[in-house]
Amino acid sequence: EKVYVGVDLGGTAIKVGLCDENGKLLQTFEGPTGTEHGADVVLENIAQYVRKLVAESPYEWEQVDGIGAGIAGFMDIPEGFIKLSPNLGWRNVPIKKILEEKLGKTVKIDNDANVAALGEAWSGAGAGIPNLVCYTLGTGVGGGIIINGKIFQGFKGMAGELGHMAVVPDLEAINCGCGMKGCLETVSSATGIIRMAKEAVERGESTSLALVENIMAKDVFDAAKSGDEVAIRIINRAAFYLGKSMASVSVVLNPQRFIIGGGVSKAGDILFDALRKYYNDFAQDAAKEGVDIVPASLGNDAGIVGAAGLNLRS
Ligand code: BGC
Ligand code: NA
Ligand code: ZN
Repeated sequence: EKVYVGVDLGGTAIKVGLCDENGKLLQTFEGPTGTEHGADVVLENIAQYVRKLVAESPYEWEQVDGIGAGIAGFMDIPEGFIKLSPNLGWRNVPIKKILEEKLGKTVKIDNDANVAALGEAWSGAGAGIPNLVCYTLGTGVGGGIIINGKIFQGFKGMAGELGHMAVVPDLEAINCGCGMKGCLETVSSATGIIRMAKEAVERGESTSLALVENIMAKDVFDAAKSGDEVAIRIINRAAFYLGKSMASVSVVLNPQRFIIGGGVSKAGDILFDALRKYYNDFAQDAAKEGVDIVPASLGNDAGIVGAAGLNLRS
């Protein structure tokens, strides 16, 4: 019996998991990234967590038939590099080579949101749907494009960097962690939502958020659910640009389904209702016919499942 290891390198945690050849998650392990100590330490942590995962499982190291890793940031997949990670603060790390040396096995790498999309397509909210687009709304905004059941990487792996579509008009645009201005990520990520909430409080707007000490995205959703108009306006703004970007994606790729994951998607109906409304306002009828927008279903496991799947589905 063969098993596959998936690694999900996020901003605060490294998650590793063991999957069978059908995308069933058999065992997981999670530990801190150690990002504050630099890339070398993070990569060593990954290697140790992977060995630990397998050692604590009923499987032997020899049964591991492939390792895949999803990393948050701009990739050069053919070269095995992460070029720039706005949220990890990395530049030009030869991640594939380093992990292969440490683990003594071939390691496939891809973008974190690409592998999350693959996970959802394999055994989550996109099972059975060949063409779909997935957005992950967390610290950043990630994207993944699945065409005929496989990740579409583009030339070097930058396809699907949906969070860096320049959508906010110049006059309102703010700087993004990637170095550009007006990216979708600046308004539709948890970071963007928190920033907009803090700005509203600083401007002295009348909102229950003024009483919250350290505003988190969840506080904004909760306030919106209880009718706070400032919070509702912020969620609407996040949904407006996201929905508008999806309308554009529709005429580029015509996916059958949009899957929305990441912490922000937990906002539930208040986000999804607004999102569906704006998507409908902007999308071409012929491109949206039969298309649905659904929440991700694998939650935090989408990344590890999809990363393991890089060995079977690419
Ligand atoms: C990065 C993407 C990543 C996303 C979610 C963005 O800032 O550019 O590569 O997929 O955050 O982690
Ligand atoms: Na991506
Ligand atoms: Zn950007």
